[in-house]
Amino acid sequence: MALFGKKSNGVEPSTSQDGAPAYMIEARDVVKTYDTGTNRIQALRSVDFAVARGEMVAVMGPSGCGKTTLLNCLSGLDDVDSGRIFLEGQDLATLSDRKRTDYRARRMGFIFQVYNLLPVLNSVENVELPLLVSGVRPKVAREKSLEALDTVGLREWATHRPAELSGGQRQRVTIARSLVNDPAIIWADEPTGALDSKTAEDILALMRDLNQQKALTFVLVTHDQGVGALCDRIVRMRDGEIVGQDVNSHAPAQRSAVIGDMVGAARS
Ligand SMILES: Nc1ncnc2c1ncn2[C@@H]1O[C@H](COP(=O)(O)OP(=O)(O)OP(=O)(O)O)[C@@H](O)[C@H]1O
Ligand SMILES: [Mg+2]
Repeated sequence: MALFGKKSNGVEPSTSQDGAPAYMIEARDVVKTYDTGTNRIQALRSVDFAVARGEMVAVMGPSGCGKTTLLNCLSGLDDVDSGRIFLEGQDLATLSDRKRTDYRARRMGFIFQVYNLLPVLNSVENVELPLLVSGVRPKVAREKSLEALDTVGLREWATHRPAELSGGQRQRVTIARSLVNDPAIIWADEPTGALDSKTAEDILALMRDLNQQKALTFVLVTHDQGVGALCDRIVRMRDGEIVGQDVNSHAPAQRSAVIGDMVGAARS
């Protein structure tokens, strides 16, 4: 099946036959070096990476191989030395800092291993904070936040502070917060890393549901092979490079075809 109109030449994004961007996320030849003064660390060496709309991808690899750096660079939280990153076909580098921040606030959600909840705020206040920061009216922000808490099964815990919640419940609050702006992409860095295995399973099931029901695109860093197995695809990193990938057998056939084409795109 020919799914591509045009493959990326490294300067423009790949497009599908109708001319629309072929991928939600597309990175071409991305290089990122950290200079600590005494050391130069090549955190990303010529990374090619693409994620289809609605795909759920796990990024796996040993500690220090560059997984968090990849997430930070792809989401525009961190600058790259060279290479291109296209999100929904848009070149991140062409956006001003302000536009990039704005894009992030509108289109992305973040879930980290540590919950990053403010201890003095209760659940609904934590969830609505990003909306208030981006200028949404308080009444609307509150409604959306309660809705997001409802989605993660925590409506009744809206007025509880983080200290009164279990680890799994806190992670649900952060998931609600990541959803509250109705994003297209969710970046998750070891979202189940601090949870026991049963709670981790529940949280993953919740993310998988959101992925399937809302067609949300997920990029998720994990050390847990079981988490990887539930995603559509596992991308493996080592020493700042992507060294391989496995498409899980339950990934939708149409998407597997896209990914097959994509591997070709990365090679050409
Ligand atoms: N802000 C920074 N300054 C200097 N070096 C950094 C910085 N952030 C990351 N690094 C280095 O870049 C490399 C990749 O780090 P990164 O955090 O991306 O790894 P990781 O795969 O997420 O590891 P882990 O599984 O332990 O979280 C490491 O060698 C790390 O020491
Ligand atoms: Mg990391």
